[in-house]
Amino acid sequence: MKWVYIEDIADFKDKEVEIRGWLYNKRSSGKARFLLIRDGTGILQGTIFSTEKDHPLFPKFDSLTQESSIVIRGRIKEDKRAPGGFELEIEDIEVIQVAKDYPITPKEHSTPFLMEHRHLWLRSRKQHAILQIRTELIKSIRDFFDGRGFRLMDTPILTPSACEGTTTLFETEYFDQKAYLSQSGQLYNEATAMAFGKVYCFGPTFRAEKSKTRRHLIEFWMVEPEVAFATLEDAIELGEDLVVYIIQRILEKNKNELEVLERDTQPLEKIKRPFPHITYDEAVKKVTEKGSKMEWGDDFGSPEETLLSEIFDLPVSVTHFPAKIKAFYMQPDPKRSDLVLGMDMIASEGYGEIIGGGQRIHDLKLLEQKIKEHKLPREAYAWYADLRKYGSVPHSGFGLGIERTLAWICKIKHIRETIPFPRLLYKIYP
Ligand code: 4AD
Ligand code: MG
Repeated sequence: MKWVYIEDIADFKDKEVEIRGWLYNKRSSGKARFLLIRDGTGILQGTIFSTEKDHPLFPKFDSLTQESSIVIRGRIKEDKRAPGGFELEIEDIEVIQVAKDYPITPKEHSTPFLMEHRHLWLRSRKQHAILQIRTELIKSIRDFFDGRGFRLMDTPILTPSACEGTTTLFETEYFDQKAYLSQSGQLYNEATAMAFGKVYCFGPTFRAEKSKTRRHLIEFWMVEPEVAFATLEDAIELGEDLVVYIIQRILEKNKNELEVLERDTQPLEKIKRPFPHITYDEAVKKVTEKGSKMEWGDDFGSPEETLLSEIFDLPVSVTHFPAKIKAFYMQPDPKRSDLVLGMDMIASEGYGEIIGGGQRIHDLKLLEQKIKEHKLPREAYAWYADLRKYGSVPHSGFGLGIERTLAWICKIKHIRETIPFPRLLYKIYP
């Protein structure tokens, strides 16, 4: 008998097939037995009917517990009443292992309990739906950049220098030297952009952030495009096109998952360009009007991002930040030297920053001055400064955080559910 996956069963109507998976649930009523089997790609109902009180498969059926691993064989029938529109008339059940006392039962569990059992929690319907959307999100991002001629450049994880400030670095040993886990592939991407014109990297990044918020992970994934000759405005436009593209793809491909998550898709359907743009100055005014105590010169905290996120029903790009609160590599605003040509895109519906980026310094002298001001070790950045010696051009790029974007798309409260195994402040199990 042919082994098939549940997501493909529509092609096997009235055919005999084998499904390999785990018992999701079961029930009996009189002479009928129903089970739900999940195989990772979907959930299918299996049925056993008997004209008698007994059926040779009933004892086997009765022995099955939640998450027992099984192989079932039988004929696929179309049935409008069954979840998914198809069911399997079971002719045979093979039990691989009976699972005893599976800890996650259909009742409510506390979040700490579920987090301790993350390795099992992944099997739950909602968690499965979120991570299913994650795979589509990543695929859509790759398709977006590949379709526009960007070259994928993998940047290193072990690095000798900081990109996003020295306070959140994870230090490790590199033989007889110190090394740090990458906070961003950007600096290396600036080199590959000068070699390939337009590039992106996509990988895990690490920040030893002492922030315990719903938006911070210690290890998160980021996609970072970098484009030679591009300005701040070009980077904003690219970011907006990317966001529109990925939202459209998920609305199209993940209807079922969005339904499982009970996501109201209306706000997502409205996401079309043009998006609003405001300067940092205007943003500070808006959030203080809404009650924030922040002052000009402060960075936005989570509460300010939430406020901004609620003012607009589209993602909003904030630009022209005070240089003091941004990274050393940001190009100064030619009109106001205390500002830089940086941009953050704040998602709608209260989700905060999903994109950070902007235009990079391309003048050698200015870069050297900034490296000094930020007290960064000159030698470690010598190669980076080289890029400003040999055919330097204006260039821009950004980073989009996968987990923050996914939390927004799925409209889930906490970022910890958007990655299979979240690394959180002081938490590294499982
Ligand atoms: O704004 P950030 O720090 O920008 C950079 O790292 C730039 N070097 C990117 C670039 O220009 N190539 O981070 C970019 C994005 C944020 O907007 C957010 O979505 C995500 O990365 N991010 C985090 N996501 C989860 N947990 C954290 N601790 C995050 N820190 C940043
Ligand atoms: Mg940022």
